[in-house]
Amino acid sequence: MTVRLLAFAGSTRAGSLNQALLDLAVAEARRQGAEVTSIRLKDFDLPLYDGDLEASDFPAKARELKGLFRAHHGVLIASPEYNGSVSGVLKNAIDWATRPTDGEGLVALSAFRGKVAGLMGASLSPFGGLRGVTHLRQILGTIQAVVATEQVLVPAAHTAFDESGALKDPLPAQLLGGLVARVIDLAERLEPPIS
Ligand SMILES: Cc1cc2nc3c(=O)[nH]c(=O)nc-3n(C[C@H](O)[C@H](O)[C@H](O)COP(=O)(O)O)c2cc1C
Repeated sequence: MTVRLLAFAGSTRAGSLNQALLDLAVAEARRQGAEVTSIRLKDFDLPLYDGDLEASDFPAKARELKGLFRAHHGVLIASPEYNGSVSGVLKNAIDWATRPTDGEGLVALSAFRGKVAGLMGASLSPFGGLRGVTHLRQILGTIQAVVATEQVLVPAAHTAFDESGALKDPLPAQLLGGLVARVIDLAERLEPPIS
């Protein structure tokens, strides 16, 4: 089976260090045989989740994003830590994608249930965004995703990449290969539903 992965960063800014980290993971996943769809959350321009908006006019872009989750076996996410947690843009995207569509039950969680997730973080701090990734792990577990125990944290990320975009330190580069391998292996074993 060819593993299909959706990849995105939790930061939308140009020059995002997490996007740089994600790009390495995407290249590695393709090298290991996965089919990867790399998206930018900025392109979806999602409104802040609002129950009235959901009830009156479910945003087409939120539906499209949810459809992408459903069409892949899993996700690769690199996200910054904001004030000790996940970025708002990432949480908002997840919140929209958990909402039922097309007659689904309230807890169908079709975008996440049984899907595999591989998590990464890059931050300016010496801890590499550990608290944010830990919160993200908890969030994804709550919505029934299977989160790989491996993770990649890049501390002092503003000094971590060379001009070619590669990680200067061999350790996170090595961990990245292991994380991607685990995500692919889990997806092959679990065969998450795609639609
Ligand atoms: C609102 C906000 C809160 C932040 N909080 C943290 C934090 O709690 N821990 C941390 O390590 N870095 C924090 N940072 C700094 C980020 O690590 C840094 O901006 C990083 O470059 C963001 O990732 P990006 O380059 O992918 O955009 C924060 C940045 C912003 C804008």
